[in-house]
Amino acid sequence: PLKESFDTDIITLPRFLLESQKCAKHATGEFTLLLNALQFAFKFISQTIRRAELVHLIGLAGASNATGDEQKKLDVLGDEIFINAMKGSGIVKVLVSEEQEDLILFPTANGTYAVCCDPIDGSSNLDAGVSVGTIVSLFKLLPDSSGTIKDVLRNGREMVGACYAMYGASTHLLLTTGQGVDGFTLDTNLGEFILVYPDLRIPPQRSIYSINEGNSFYWDETIRGFIEKLKKPSDNRKPYSARYVGSMVADVHRTFLYGGLFAYPGDRKARNGKLRLLYEAFPMAYLMEQAGGLAVNDRGERILDLTPEHIHDKTSIWLGSPDEVNQYLSYIGKPE
Ligand code: AHG
Ligand code: MN
Ligand code: MN
Ligand code: MN
Repeated sequence: PLKESFDTDIITLPRFLLESQKCAKHATGEFTLLLNALQFAFKFISQTIRRAELVHLIGLAGASNATGDEQKKLDVLGDEIFINAMKGSGIVKVLVSEEQEDLILFPTANGTYAVCCDPIDGSSNLDAGVSVGTIVSLFKLLPDSSGTIKDVLRNGREMVGACYAMYGASTHLLLTTGQGVDGFTLDTNLGEFILVYPDLRIPPQRSIYSINEGNSFYWDETIRGFIEKLKKPSDNRKPYSARYVGSMVADVHRTFLYGGLFAYPGDRKARNGKLRLLYEAFPMAYLMEQAGGLAVNDRGERILDLTPEHIHDKTSIWLGSPDEVNQYLSYIGKPE
């Protein structure tokens, strides 16, 4: 619950990391250094986005990325900010970015981490001032690895951390290192992320569904049938409400706080949908499960049980409150 009175004992992210480092079994200062570099990147990107219109940074960069997205100027700028922050950390050996066709290696780094990121998620919404974000998944290098592609073509269960920043009315940060999810809000006067949602849990049920129905003509019949079912009132339930921002971070952040279902299914145009496994589905699935939610693909397979073959592989995804995701699983005939 949010505190009512004036707080003189606030928990900043650095203090939170220090305290959690004490109790975390494999605590090494390295992970804290990595998260400090990440939070710097989020603050810098947040600041840059909020000034974008003032410094003519809206609009297209004039290039496209590996998954065919038209890159916005802020996609490219956010990517540069993130790459430099990871390089500057001195402990990131391998970096995957949505905006970089190939892996980036930092051979001189003396750390043991691989980072996958979506520097600006929801960039098609940027020019309209709608919330966007940055999404990150973290892996430790394989034993005796000095940093190769094998360190990131990993099974989802090998992730050691995941986080996202959402640049909305405030800048929010949700973080997991495998011991639950904690939510922070950026205090721009202090320049610190402050702990606001310790041990965040997703509501077990909420009658909200979040999907781009503009794709429904191309969906499989089963998926169309399931969404229609949510909209139909039945004896013990009112129809579901539709909420769709179009920025995954905004739609998933609302799902964490309010509950409900978010989905980006595959369709006849794109078998595996649009969202990328390594830096969108994996981190959001890890955070969801750590907050008591679920995350599966169209076939009902757990997202965290998947392994990418290529760094920009896509996957269909259904995530959110256990009640809603289990409704989907039983509708497609998967045991809950
Ligand atoms: P990105 O801006 O990083 O390329 O991601 C955009 C994604 C995701 O943010 C959102 O859920 C989805 O695109 C929306 O796609 P549609 O516009 O096809 O619904
Ligand atoms: Mn994109
Ligand atoms: Mn994205
Ligand atoms: Mn992006």
